[in-house]
Amino acid sequence: MKVLSGNSNRSLAEQITRELDLPLSNANVKRFADKEIFVSIDDNVRGKDIFIVQSTSFPANDHLMELLICIDAVRRASAKRITAVIPYFGYARQDRKSEGRTPISAKLVANMITTAGADRVLTMDLHAGQIQGFFDIPVDNLFAGPVIREDIRKNYGTKDLMLISPDVGGVVRTRGIAMRLGADIAIVDKRRPKPGTSKVMNIIGDVTGRKCILIDDIVDSGGTLMGAAEALLAEGATEVAAYCSHGVLSNGAAERIAKSQLKELVITNSIEQPQKVLDAANIRQLCAAPLLSKAIRRIANEESVSVLFE
Ligand code: R5P
Repeated sequence: MKVLSGNSNRSLAEQITRELDLPLSNANVKRFADKEIFVSIDDNVRGKDIFIVQSTSFPANDHLMELLICIDAVRRASAKRITAVIPYFGYARQDRKSEGRTPISAKLVANMITTAGADRVLTMDLHAGQIQGFFDIPVDNLFAGPVIREDIRKNYGTKDLMLISPDVGGVVRTRGIAMRLGADIAIVDKRRPKPGTSKVMNIIGDVTGRKCILIDDIVDSGGTLMGAAEALLAEGATEVAAYCSHGVLSNGAAERIAKSQLKELVITNSIEQPQKVLDAANIRQLCAAPLLSKAIRRIANEESVSVLFE
């Protein structure tokens, strides 16, 4: 087996290969003057089991194109099997026609990855589990839940703990972590009057006197979390923190979170963060490399991956 990386999250790829005790094979990703992408692979990949690590995070289109071109290069170099390891699968929020004459871009991206030549996909906390069905190749969708759960236990304990789903769509994810911690859950009734803005309508559940932890897959503008934190504190929560698998953190979200009422935001390193996020006093990162590397090892050995879901 060999592990290659695009440019989106080289530090995570390095941590994964360290866990696997393998060198990171070199994929040289270059740009022509007109910004077309060119990839050349240093190592021989003929007959090999290849894992290409690339999140389709900001700038999403460049990183997606890099992934597609890397897959194409490896396929044409006669790899035996290609697994696209996509810790953060961008475009996932466009998973249905939200109104007339709009695309289902998550499906289009799935088609592109398959057409480029991927034999399987390994990803983490897809925005919606059903996106697995957009692919006609096997998809392993890992959960950061076990990593998040142990961090909550260590840093917050379980006394007076309440896990909060910031919207109805996140209830299953929140309940999965809460059940294993023996904690109650509450739900935020969030509406989106228009894309990019969110409004808290109600809190379903009594949060008075509780340590509240919001669980979400993505933090993007931070609006969902900050709105929820404000509403929870107004309803009597003693403190509010948040755990999100993917720190998209666009357009000054880190600065807004620093000034918010959130005690802290904990994300994973599925997306490589700029220094200002790494330096932010109330943002902390958990490492997804042990989880991803165990899954890669199991796929390479043709072993079950589902043991990692517990
Ligand atoms: C929405 O369904 C997602 O799970 C997240 O809640 C959302 O993407 C967060 O976005 P923002 O941080 O911009 O409110």
